[in-house]
Amino acid sequence: MASVAPIFKKAYWSLFWGTSFYVLALIAFTNPWLQRQILYAHNVQTTWWQDINKPEQFGFVKNQITPFNFTTPDQEVIYAWHIMPLALYAKHESEIIAQPSGCAEDITKTKAFRLLRDDPDARLIINFHGNAGTVAQGWRTDSYRALADGSTSNIHILAIDYRGFGLSTGSPTEEGIIIDGIAAVDWAINVAKVPSSRIVILGQSLGTAVTAAVVEHYAQEGVDFAGVVLVAGFTTLTELLPSYSIAGWLPILAPLKSSPALFRLWSNYVVDKWPSATRIANFVRLSKRVRLFIVHAKDDAEIPWTNAEGLFLAAANATTEKGMDVSLIQKMKSRNTVHMGDGAFISTWKSGNDKIIREEIVAYGHHSRVLTYATVSLAALKAFGMDEGGALPV
Ligand SMILES: *[C@@H]1O[C@H](CO)[C@@H](O)[C@H](O)[C@H]1NC(C)=O
Ligand SMILES: *[C@@H]1O[C@H](CO)[C@@H](O)[C@H](O)[C@H]1NC(C)=O
Repeated sequence: MASVAPIFKKAYWSLFWGTSFYVLALIAFTNPWLQRQILYAHNVQTTWWQDINKPEQFGFVKNQITPFNFTTPDQEVIYAWHIMPLALYAKHESEIIAQPSGCAEDITKTKAFRLLRDDPDARLIINFHGNAGTVAQGWRTDSYRALADGSTSNIHILAIDYRGFGLSTGSPTEEGIIIDGIAAVDWAINVAKVPSSRIVILGQSLGTAVTAAVVEHYAQEGVDFAGVVLVAGFTTLTELLPSYSIAGWLPILAPLKSSPALFRLWSNYVVDKWPSATRIANFVRLSKRVRLFIVHAKDDAEIPWTNAEGLFLAAANATTEKGMDVSLIQKMKSRNTVHMGDGAFISTWKSGNDKIIREEIVAYGHHSRVLTYATVSLAALKAFGMDEGGALPV
């Protein structure tokens, strides 16, 4: 027996130190600065050794992308990419190749910009990316190609790095990032002169929360978009955190799920709450026309796909004046659901022809790669009226 005791002792001390460390980490997390460093992960990136002012390094043709800056009302400088459709590039290749490269001093002088501004059929997707990295990180560049390189496409993309990310100035907060998102849309409408009826707002992960806030803002101003696409979103950041797994395997805050009281206490310390479900409901309620696509992969290990259900519920409920019973919404939803095997399905909710909400659950795609999948491109085409449903509204 004498040889067993030290092992127990060791285990005891490991548990003691492990728990203490964890509790200390939770307490440290209540520090707003540290919390934002962890949640936004804006200083974590994989493109340190690459020059994001040279998009050829990420597989684009010369000057297909114009990097440029714009300034927000509170004087942050936001770094952005204008990505032009390849089919349009092909028609103007020699002129575009001859233009200066790198971050544009004045984007309005570029050929690519003029082609966007002066084409009455040009469509624009405004892309809000997830946390960490830059416009050029990971699957993001592939997703631009999936959206912009279609053979008949006149779909341009505007992608931005929020304040504190990449080459943008400042540091991120919920309030600040929303200002950046609104400033990007203002740039599109007022500088690039693309009317909102030809703009789709698309976000992934954290970007869905930015999208929800931005479209809520414009709905309050009476501005409708061609469509809104939420990929791998969440209902609120506070509720997400206990089920969020860093990089898909480290459910760091899962122990909070065991005690509602501890969770409530702790959630008071979440500085940026990103209440997307509420914002999406407001957006649906205030808009005259809604084309909302909620896309999530079943095998998303970072954000559970059930968040899509929550967003759908909030949106569908908001199409009715007084709201509906959740069980009734679910019953009506299941009647309008097409199952496609492997757990994939599409649920469609229609309130007349004015408000259409689709929840599209795909079987594969994980958390980020799904952005490059055809379901997302199809959502954009449908939002732009380039489908069997017909033309864009005027
Ligand atoms: C864009 O903004 C960044 C950050 O302020 C700055 O370093 C860079 O020089 C700007 N580029 C141009 C072309 O204005
Ligand atoms: C549905 O809408 C009603 C009225 O706006 C609201 O009181 C209720 O909380 C909503 N339910 C859900 C599940 O969002």
